[in-house]
Amino acid sequence: MRRALLIQDLPQVADHLKGLLGRVEELRVTGGHTAADAALAAATTEKPEIALVDHFLGGKEDIGPQVAKRIRAASPGTRIIVVTVPQKPVTPRPEEGIDAVFVLPGGATEIVQAIGSEKHAAGPKGGSTAVYSPKGGAGKTLITVNLGTALRRRGASVAVMDGVMRFGSVRHLLPVPPEARSIVDLPPGGAMKAAMAEALWEGPAGVHYLLAPPRPEQADLVAATEVANAVNILAATHDHVIVDTPSRLGDDALGILDAAGTILLVVTYSAPSIATARAAVETFDMLGYRKSKPILAVISQADETGGLTRGALEHALGLPVAAEIPTDRRLVAESFARQEPFTASAPTAPISQAFSALATALVAQQRK
Ligand SMILES: Nc1ncnc2c1ncn2[C@@H]1O[C@H](COP(=O)(O)OP(=O)(O)OP(=O)(O)O)[C@@H](O)[C@H]1O
Ligand SMILES: [Mg+2]
Repeated sequence: MRRALLIQDLPQVADHLKGLLGRVEELRVTGGHTAADAALAAATTEKPEIALVDHFLGGKEDIGPQVAKRIRAASPGTRIIVVTVPQKPVTPRPEEGIDAVFVLPGGATEIVQAIGSEKHAAGPKGGSTAVYSPKGGAGKTLITVNLGTALRRRGASVAVMDGVMRFGSVRHLLPVPPEARSIVDLPPGGAMKAAMAEALWEGPAGVHYLLAPPRPEQADLVAATEVANAVNILAATHDHVIVDTPSRLGDDALGILDAAGTILLVVTYSAPSIATARAAVETFDMLGYRKSKPILAVISQADETGGLTRGALEHALGLPVAAEIPTDRRLVAESFARQEPFTASAPTAPISQAFSALATALVAQQRK
């Protein structure tokens, strides 16, 4: 069950919000905090999924926004909604800790929009994306982690899942502590859902990570059906799930591709990469994927064109290109060394802007 923290000093407004929240979704509502410090302490320790912050805390206009900003820093995974009145419009600014705005008095529809309700999300599969490439080393892991961060920076709730059970490498791009849990700690079947929140590790920018087993021999402890189960559970609780998918089309990869709402096929301009990507598309056609879900190409290291064009690649694959990711060896090396996604540490760099474009294309596709 998601938790919502109310930071609101007018009791009648707090009651109104509690009533609305109670009607739209099973939420555990806590708080009703009035003092900024107590509210911040609660947000920091509880790390609720949702916080509703009064824009006029303490009767002043600046305290609410400051509290929002500080909650963002202390608990980046919390979706922060600023509550205001029609006379004082506020625009959402996820970078400043305002993911959504709720205008009083508002109704159920408005609160659902603001909290990004699970029940009213696009559908159980709409938000899951498998990042796949038949050829190793194409850039899948780098794309998975940086796309997840780019989506999160827009205020969406994001889970990144390492679907590579043996030698999964998402963890190596991030400052994952040794005690972080992984998919191997989850119970199978119906019990997985309730245990999921505990198994997630919160990484930079507040992205939730479901890591692959830390040791290669543990890969055999996770059945392919459970890998797919995890994708579906994460999709039901996050706006987006991005899954790093193994290149080998075994049971794990097929389970992820089946469960995913969208497939991103990572390809470079090199002839072997295009040829294998084409073979993958043929396999997808045999599996009926093209009829059931969007498949978009992402060109990795796209400035190394070998004389090819985007149009030629689209023609060769029979797929639209969602984004072209340029090569940036310096920033990529730095980001690996510092274990920090570059879409978080250098959001204005051209490579990060390409991820922004990819996030836009993905969201546009999923809205269709
Ligand atoms: N846009 C880029 N700019 C610079 N270097 C890149 C870029 N994309 C990928 N690389 C390089 O390619 C390497 C492979 O990337 P990555 O590990 O993401 O590929 P992968 O498809 O996940 O590989 P594997 O099949 O081994 O899982 C990276 O270590 C990085 O050095
Ligand atoms: Mg990889």
